[in-house]
Amino acid sequence: MNWGHSSRQSSKKSSKSDPGATGPASHHLPSTDDQQGELTVQIRWLIRRDMPEVLEIEQSSFAAPWSEEDFLGYLRQRNCIGMVAEYNQQIVGFMIYELHKARLQVLNFACSANHRRLGIGSQMVAKLVDKLSQQRRQEILLEVRESNLEAQLFFKKLQFRAVRVLRRHFDDTTEDAYVMRYRLIESESDDDQQLPHNRISFFDAA
Ligand SMILES: CC(C)(COP(=O)(O)OP(=O)(O)OC[C@H]1O[C@@H](n2cnc3c(N)ncnc32)[C@H](O)[C@@H]1OP(=O)(O)O)[C@@H](O)C(=O)NCCC(=O)NCCS
Repeated sequence: MNWGHSSRQSSKKSSKSDPGATGPASHHLPSTDDQQGELTVQIRWLIRRDMPEVLEIEQSSFAAPWSEEDFLGYLRQRNCIGMVAEYNQQIVGFMIYELHKARLQVLNFACSANHRRLGIGSQMVAKLVDKLSQQRRQEILLEVRESNLEAQLFFKKLQFRAVRVLRRHFDDTTEDAYVMRYRLIESESDDDQQLPHNRISFFDAA
């Protein structure tokens, strides 16, 4: 995710077309709870009262977690939005993203370790995709650490593609980051066609 813009961001972990009928907006959206082993969550604005649960998820998800001050610092910015996924009055996921003129930039994104592979992350991505529009914001960008294969596979499954490698992107390690992008409309002439090969190409090819 965009854990590389500022020094605070870059000290974080790091940090996800074919937008057809089976795109993220329709992925993992069971009509009832627990159908096919998935949970339907309510996705709403993050409020101050959610912070303890959000911090718990953050700390169990990342080696270099954001502090509460980090969260509040971002959320005070006018273009920065926090959302949580709630199930049974429990916070089971959250995402922090920035609104830019032509894109959404995801800064932080995680699900509770006890509630993974239940479609919650997919529903959060679907919520982001719902916010795109052909007239205005057409893409979602984020940065993923090279070592975070699970997140790469997750975002790849939801039609994000690795479009750039950021060498030695983080303060806390020398590892690279991948910029992953979701586009509402992928065109044949897209510059993706000329992308250099990188390690994630193997997954794209799979
Ligand atoms: C990445 C993350 C958000 C995924 O959330 P999730 O709710 O578990 O994801 P979903 O259940 O919606 O998964 C959708 C699909 O993505 C893929 N996927 C998700 N997690 C995966 C994993 N660990 N390994 C391989 N594929 C995975 C699968 O194809 C999955 O579908 P399936 O379960 O039917 O096979 C979650 O693992 C997480 O919070 N990780 C720690 C924080 C993190 O790395 N955040 C991203 C920072 S860039």
